[in-house]
Amino acid sequence: MRDAPIAVIDSGVGGLSVLKEIQALLPNESLFYVADCGHIPYGEKSPEYIRQRCAVISGFCREQGAKALVIACNTATVAAAADLRQRYPDWPLVAMEPAVKPAAAATRSGVVGVLATTGTLQSAKFAALLDRFANDVRVITQPCPGLVEMIEDGDLHSEALRQLLRSYVDPLLAAGCDTIILGCTHYPFLKPLLLEMIPASISLIDTGAAVARQLQRLLEARDLLSQGPARDAQFWTSADPDHFRKILPLLWQKSGVVQSFTG
Ligand code: DGL
Repeated sequence: MRDAPIAVIDSGVGGLSVLKEIQALLPNESLFYVADCGHIPYGEKSPEYIRQRCAVISGFCREQGAKALVIACNTATVAAAADLRQRYPDWPLVAMEPAVKPAAAATRSGVVGVLATTGTLQSAKFAALLDRFANDVRVITQPCPGLVEMIEDGDLHSEALRQLLRSYVDPLLAAGCDTIILGCTHYPFLKPLLLEMIPASISLIDTGAAVARQLQRLLEARDLLSQGPARDAQFWTSADPDHFRKILPLLWQKSGVVQSFTG
């Protein structure tokens, strides 16, 4: 069981930003990644739709013998994490949420910005997160429709992307945010572009590394850490595998075996 792979899932390529953190922290672990690219963007879908998709994907991950599941998607977490925990109470599961707690602790201006999907920002789970950790700070939320689709197309630099991103970031800067939460796993791929747009004094926070540490703790507690060696990461997509193959080197800096997943 220790040598079984860990499954990492997302609506598309965004969770690769989390997969990188996991591979860096846990190099002995074999990883496989499932991207539900045929159903992107989750951020504009209903919670019920996302729950159904996550049920299908997690079933696939179980069939593949995954010893643990990482939901590398904020939108899927708010919609489906509770349902998956209920379905598989004994399966180690790590989910993710926007970094409101660390951002509230880090801000000096007292104003925090959140870039995330519409689905995440509208969820009761996000409201509860603000209630719990953000009472003493002002939080400016900014949904970002369109960004995910551009990243899925392998666009990290175009002028159109730059303009769209600027239209989302400018209101946060105008409000005096000194800390910006990247509350969608696709957005860390826009860090280079974001750093060109914001003053150096502003911090960008995401939770990929924290998710990797939480996974490590869970596996350790259950004596499930692998001693290695790890097998090469494998990738599955519910859309065109050729497209995924094409953009993988851009986001994962390596090529990899990509297979198509239907469900
Ligand atoms: N990567 C996902 C997240 O972290 C959302 C992308 C989408 O809208 O499909 O929220």
